Amino acid sequence: MSPDITQTDSRLLAARAELDRLWERGTRFLGCRVAIMGGAMSWVSESHLVSAISNAGGFGVIACGSMGPAQLEAEIAATHALTERPFGVNLITMHPELDDLIQVCLAGKVGHIVLAGGIPLGGAVRAVKDGGAKLICFSPALVLAKRLIRSGADALVIEGSEAGGHIGPVSLTVLAQEILPYVRDVPVFVAGGLGRGEAVLAYLEMGAAGAQLGTRFAAATESIAHPNFKRAFVRAAARDAVPSTQLDERFPVIPVRGLANAGTRRFLAHQAETLHRFQAGELTKEAAQLSIEHFWAGALRRAVIEGDVEEGSVMAGQSVGMVTSVQPTAAIIAELVDQATAALAARHG
Ligand SMILES: Cc1cc2nc3c(=O)[nH]c(=O)nc-3n(C[C@H](O)[C@H](O)[C@H](O)COP(=O)(O)O)c2cc1C
Repeated sequence: MSPDITQTDSRLLAARAELDRLWERGTRFLGCRVAIMGGAMSWVSESHLVSAISNAGGFGVIACGSMGPAQLEAEIAATHALTERPFGVNLITMHPELDDLIQVCLAGKVGHIVLAGGIPLGGAVRAVKDGGAKLICFSPALVLAKRLIRSGADALVIEGSEAGGHIGPVSLTVLAQEILPYVRDVPVFVAGGLGRGEAVLAYLEMGAAGAQLGTRFAAATESIAHPNFKRAFVRAAARDAVPSTQLDERFPVIPVRGLANAGTRRFLAHQAETLHRFQAGELTKEAAQLSIEHFWAGALRRAVIEGDVEEGSVMAGQSVGMVTSVQPTAAIIAELVDQATAALAARHG
């Protein structure tokens, strides 16, 4: 072996050890080798993808979405059957059966529960913690981060508006500067727009404990998403992943980032028509709002499972531009680790 190769190898080994030190807080908290969480994605994050992420050294998270307790119990059992590594479950705080779902997670020996979709109530926080699980919450601002930690959050995810799915108004670049320097009590994971290891490394160096990615994993080989859904991801550029548009401030639209398609164009026309009917006195304000809210009912399933990427909701982050092929989950994680390691090694070169 030439001395050059040995030198390169030892530089890479040292860089990998440095990366492990940088995200040690995250790996210790999650109980995995690589502090990369697979963000929960409704319809996508089920046993196959979740176990593939955990088996590859990351941390998979089941998306409970609108599942009931029996369905979630079966999903947890199916995931345990595919991996011996730890994984988490993401529950939506406004789910009508939240208390039962928490008990299902605890009975299923799920060590980490993510409460998403709003600030969790005290009862839910206590149930998770009394049951011995670790609680992860989303924080969209520094004041809320502090409040969530006071009320019992063991870790936080800060998700920028670059992300796929439901989004807040602030980018990760800004959220990270607002929150990372001031939150030291609990590990903070960054999410939104991440597609390469160098970017993950930059946030670790700012104080993040790890990262959460969704879009890149949605297009992984093990993802059960329809081939049309994955193909749309491979084809799309960053600018194709746009937030839903609200036509009138009297009728709020929940901001969701996804690929522009016939459905998003029809949504605009539907809002215009609903507004017209409201102004003509044909619809009450409540009926008009409901009609707008119902437009997307079942649309994510339609795109993910049925493969209707024209009319369905193709939720995707701006990181979709970095999805260039359908890759095995382990290859995605290895690529992220290699990119971060190479960036560190280059500094010592
Ligand atoms: C198709 C899709 C569905 C998603 N569904 C959920 C969900 O049900 N619950 C949730 O907390 N986040 C959801 N997200 C957000 C992800 O968990 C993750 O935080 C986000 O994808 C990270 O940004 P990225 O897409 O740029 O990697 C979804 C994202 C995508 C792309």
